[in-house]
Amino acid sequence: MKQNRTNHSHNVFPKDFLWGASTAAHQVEGGNVNQWSAWELENASELAKTAKERLSWMPTFNQFSGPATNPDNYISGHGVEHYSRYKSDMKAAKNLNLNSFRFGIEWSRVEPREGVWDAAAWKHYKEYIAELLELDIEPVLNLWHWTMPTWFTDKGGFEKKKNLVYFDRFVKKICEELQIHNLQYIITLNEPNVYATFGYVTGEWPPNRKSIFTFGKVYYNLVRAHKRSYRILKEANPRLRIGVAAQLANMQAKRPQNVFDLFATRWMRYAWNWWFLNRIKKQQDFVGFNYYFTDYYRFGDWQHIKKGQLFYRANPKEPINDLGWYMEPEGIYPLLVRVWSHYKKPIMITENGLADTNDVHRRWWIEETIVAMERALSEDIQLIGYQHWSLLDNFEWATGWWPEFGLIHVDRKTMKRTVRPSAKYYADQITKLSQ
Ligand code: BGC
Repeated sequence: MKQNRTNHSHNVFPKDFLWGASTAAHQVEGGNVNQWSAWELENASELAKTAKERLSWMPTFNQFSGPATNPDNYISGHGVEHYSRYKSDMKAAKNLNLNSFRFGIEWSRVEPREGVWDAAAWKHYKEYIAELLELDIEPVLNLWHWTMPTWFTDKGGFEKKKNLVYFDRFVKKICEELQIHNLQYIITLNEPNVYATFGYVTGEWPPNRKSIFTFGKVYYNLVRAHKRSYRILKEANPRLRIGVAAQLANMQAKRPQNVFDLFATRWMRYAWNWWFLNRIKKQQDFVGFNYYFTDYYRFGDWQHIKKGQLFYRANPKEPINDLGWYMEPEGIYPLLVRVWSHYKKPIMITENGLADTNDVHRRWWIEETIVAMERALSEDIQLIGYQHWSLLDNFEWATGWWPEFGLIHVDRKTMKRTVRPSAKYYADQITKLSQ
């Protein structure tokens, strides 16, 4: 008989462990009109035209060069029609034995014009949450996942401290409109580090700026936005457990005994992983983090330094996912240990997954992740939940539609949903580990 590494008689997962999946409004809903959808329309042709030069470093490029060079790939459009199909999607989540679900509210839907609230959109999100509760699925509500109304970004968005009042107002309105007393978990911001870096340092994402100075302002304003939201939410419901979804990478020195590699690794850990979380230490009830990457840092040789790279990532060439990302699922373990030792707060894995259209690696990834979580739990690290990214195939930002992260595959022509074999494996593990 095939033995699973996770077939233990002694189960360390708590009974109330949150087994879930994660989504983001803009990536699944369809029909959104925000700063990102405007950017898609302006940039789709250029992204398709430059796909080869940008992406052909990926060993998987040939497999995806068709969609990657097609402008339609870069338009979120109808999404996967989750806005109208959420009830059946939630049923599918329930059938996978999930007892929690991370989702977002799209600010541009509820406040399409400054100060004008859309009653129908609020009704939708109320019903959405009610449906989750009805199915006994714990809602994990995410307030900001990079998309914003254009009236807000036209004013400079998070570049200006004075604009934070608009985000405050949105958060207050959430407290008024939604059944905030029925909720337990709120994530204020998704990956502020990724948003600020891609929007303001590399300039690959909207608003395509390359300014360290503006990056600093945006990043710090996101710290402020979180702290202010924390206060507003706690006033509305003191029992809420509030956190962020930070993007953390397991960073290791390529040559562990090399002081320069160690220096680069430590610096990156601080700058990328801890800087933001350190600022909000007192304003979080749990630490939420998204894990995708293990990176091996190496100090640059003269060739690199001449190109301005003081250090660089020197990852093994395999195994990689469809996006060419090096995969080391068990690398979540050292992160769990470090997060726990830094903050001593309950931890929720708010995203974790891989682009794997043919579902060749996902089962292995989930199994290794479960083993890593077991190890952490057996060492008394307070891990409260795991949200796999993602429930459904979805719109992968500037890369568009071809990377498929879903436990459930979506055919975007027919919108037909098909449960992937790895999802069935995940569902079985949940049953076993919930006993
Ligand atoms: C983001 C998701 C994204 C996923 C895979 C995370 O950085 O929060 O929106 O789809 O990674 O790239």
